[in-house]
Amino acid sequence: MNNIKKTLLVTGGAGFIGSHVVRLFVNKYPDYLIVNLDALTYAGNLENLKDVEAKENYIFEKADITDEPRMQELFDQYKFDGVIHLAAESHVDRSILDPLQFVRTNVLGTVNLLNVARKFWNGNFEGKRFYHVSTDEVYGSLGEEGFFTEETAYDPRSPYSASKASSDHFVMAYFHTYHLPVVMSNCSNNYGSHHFPEKLIPLMINNIRNNKPLPVYGKGENVRDWLYVEDHARAIDVIFHNGREGEKYNVGGFNEWKNIDLVHLLCRIMDTKLGREEGESAKLISYVTDRPGHDLRYAIDATKLNKELGWSPSLQFEEGLEKTVDWYLRNEEWINHITSGNYKHYYETQYDQR
Ligand code: NAD
Ligand code: DAU
Repeated sequence: MNNIKKTLLVTGGAGFIGSHVVRLFVNKYPDYLIVNLDALTYAGNLENLKDVEAKENYIFEKADITDEPRMQELFDQYKFDGVIHLAAESHVDRSILDPLQFVRTNVLGTVNLLNVARKFWNGNFEGKRFYHVSTDEVYGSLGEEGFFTEETAYDPRSPYSASKASSDHFVMAYFHTYHLPVVMSNCSNNYGSHHFPEKLIPLMINNIRNNKPLPVYGKGENVRDWLYVEDHARAIDVIFHNGREGEKYNVGGFNEWKNIDLVHLLCRIMDTKLGREEGESAKLISYVTDRPGHDLRYAIDATKLNKELGWSPSLQFEEGLEKTVDWYLRNEEWINHITSGNYKHYYETQYDQR
């Protein structure tokens, strides 16, 4: 290809959000070469990208972000203009089972990438950008009132959020110390297609489909702020291109739901889709031991992103949830491939001990 204007490295592009980001960029920017780098851990799945894998401006590289020589080799080979860094261990429950893996990938992997980018760009930062994708969980837990803003102090409570908070601090440290041109965002809970069924929404959809118990942690009163994944991908596009250097942006849907209310809504949608009697799926709800250190409430104030860059969510939650359920029902093969493999073992370990 000789019409390439920019070469971008997207890390974690075979995962849930990463695959939506890759799809958006490959389709929207035919003059960008998108290099998707992913270690293909249990959460990485190239089936997520079947529809773009043959595109001329897309390349996949299997690699681990903690592998310094390999990262250097890839920077030398592709001469990246920008990095959109999503690769991470992302599941809170797994971080409670194995915190060190989260330190390795989320902290050491991020610092390794920052270092390699800094060395490769070597002070020539014109047109360069390192975008770090982070989470609202770094802010800790809210009470009944209030929102997380970009000024909220970090107060991570789980090994996952502590590892993400640490990586965020390193990103800002590279900006202040080495003037690396960084930008960062902290997003609320995403939902949508290609979401790994260890997470609440796809797990519930899959269990309802299979008439299995629906494990609600504690009393189900914890609150999350849900955003459609394609809206997050659009926010990443806008922030990558127009966000101010050294700044962070909160991304969220102003869409708070108590877990138990969300599970009931899903049950109602699934009853209709599966032709079940109203209330049938809800009988599967089973209250189980709470997640240790379970954050009560997350709620994002995304005013800065809206005012500065004009972004706002495009979908109402009920509409997005219905689209999501439809996707899972249409893509049984995708979910069967995942749930028949190593995930089965994790599921048994996680839920049998409760
Ligand atoms: P995911 O677990 O679905 O995907 C993570 C991807 O990273 C996988 O493809 C995996 O193979 C890859 N990966 C893991 N370790 C790697 C390594 N060492 N080297 C290279 N690749 C590796 O995660 P997700 O839900 O898509 O989240 C993506 C990013 O967005 C993460 O940084 C996460 O913290 C952040 N985030 C997620 C949410 C959410 O609701 N899911 C919300 C806000 C922020
Ligand atoms: O807020 C952003 C974060 O959202 C991201 O940074 C994380 O990567 C992502 O996994 C997500 O974290 P949560 O812990 O909020 O998501 P999860 O889907 O695991 O859980 C959502 C809520 O549902 C939480 O309150 C725990 C509860 N839950 C979860 C599972 C898996 C249950 O009640 N039962 C379950 O089986």
